Amino acid sequence: MKVLLLGSGGREHALAWKIAQSPKVEKLYIAPGNAGTGEAGENVNLKATDFPALKTFALEKGIDMIVVGPEDPLVQGIFDSFKEDPATRHIDIIGPTAKGATLEGSKEFAKGFMMRHNIPTARYKSITADNLQEGLDFLATLEAPYVLKADGLCAGKGVLILPTLEEAQKELKEMLGGMFGDASATVVIEEFLSGIECSVFVMTDGRHYKVLPVAKDYKRIGEGDKGLNTGGMGSVTPVPFADETFMEKVRTRIIEPTVNGLLEEEIGYQGFIFLGLINVKGEPMVIEYNVRMGDPETESVMLRIKSDLVDLLEGVAKGDLDQRALEFDPRTAACVMLVSGGYPEAYEKGKAMTGFDLAAQTDSILFHAGTATKDGQTVTAGGRVIAVCSYGETKEEALQKSYRVADMIDFEKKYFRRDIGFDL
Ligand code: AMP
Ligand code: GLY
Repeated sequence: MKVLLLGSGGREHALAWKIAQSPKVEKLYIAPGNAGTGEAGENVNLKATDFPALKTFALEKGIDMIVVGPEDPLVQGIFDSFKEDPATRHIDIIGPTAKGATLEGSKEFAKGFMMRHNIPTARYKSITADNLQEGLDFLATLEAPYVLKADGLCAGKGVLILPTLEEAQKELKEMLGGMFGDASATVVIEEFLSGIECSVFVMTDGRHYKVLPVAKDYKRIGEGDKGLNTGGMGSVTPVPFADETFMEKVRTRIIEPTVNGLLEEEIGYQGFIFLGLINVKGEPMVIEYNVRMGDPETESVMLRIKSDLVDLLEGVAKGDLDQRALEFDPRTAACVMLVSGGYPEAYEKGKAMTGFDLAAQTDSILFHAGTATKDGQTVTAGGRVIAVCSYGETKEEALQKSYRVADMIDFEKKYFRRDIGFDL
């Protein structure tokens, strides 16, 4: 079959790598892709949110399945757009309907959904300019630190954690006043939860589900989880604290109520559900839903899926996911992200990259994120540049291998964290 994968990051290179291994796939296109995805399939220069252009392309090439990497096309309704159009209705779209994508597109909707289905999450109140006083009063009932979340999509920047009540009340007013534009016209105030986080990925066909390997990502730029938030600096799977007891709670209290809740509310969902969880003294609580795979979790999770991913995706689209096999690789996988100096603030692009020949002699796997090809040479083209991923019998072994290769790949002002997995 012919598959079109949408997106251009490390997540998409990892998905492309895994999809290309499927004997079911005769041709893989990636739109727009990056220098790495071009090795797994054919890049096509189309935007992942340009639905008319994607439809024309899909029809011209006879695409059977579209796998959606990032959240934007989902929140903008790519599923509905293809399914409402008689010409493209036959194409399988891996990803939820626009309504389903609201689980990520609106924090207020996600909290309401969790309340309706008794899914454990932090206490909250949803505030707009009209009930500001209620928000200020609610903050005063909470203990420090204070969590404020812009309702809408903010490219990962919409969550503020404030140390004092004064700052929280001031920032609440600023968010409602347009700090993140329309995205913060509604703000969710949450009780702060203390614990260690992990990412649980679920595939669902809307009725059945399968749980992929659990991973942990490292979001802060600095070692010891200090400094600014980034898209993610590394990931490790499995997560030792996500043991059978913990996962049983995750399945019965979170995953099943989520899948059943979507079905009950008639919200079409055939895709990935990403549960951002926090372990509060052994009890899993939901921090957030995302409607796609995580980045850089996907880069390590794909290494641990032994089964044919495309067969599973077919199950997602056809509604018979329960009939498909999902087998894990028992080893640990760890990924270290190499980033441009300065990221997540201002950084330079277009730096020549070297060391690929050396890295190719190791058994580590490189997933490209922000790279491009210029005059036949691979150059940096983003903040997060490359994810170095390795297997190991232990976390230590997998990380040691990734760090060895992280030292081989070179470009001006390269930076990476040397403490990925430190808290596991
Ligand atoms: P989000 O964009 O929802 O993933 O939030 C960004 C980060 O803020 C999360 O990964 C958590 O580390 C933190 N966070 C969000 N909500 C809470 C909460 N209620 N308690 C503690 N930390 C939180
Ligand atoms: N790694 C977190 C995310 O993809 O949102």
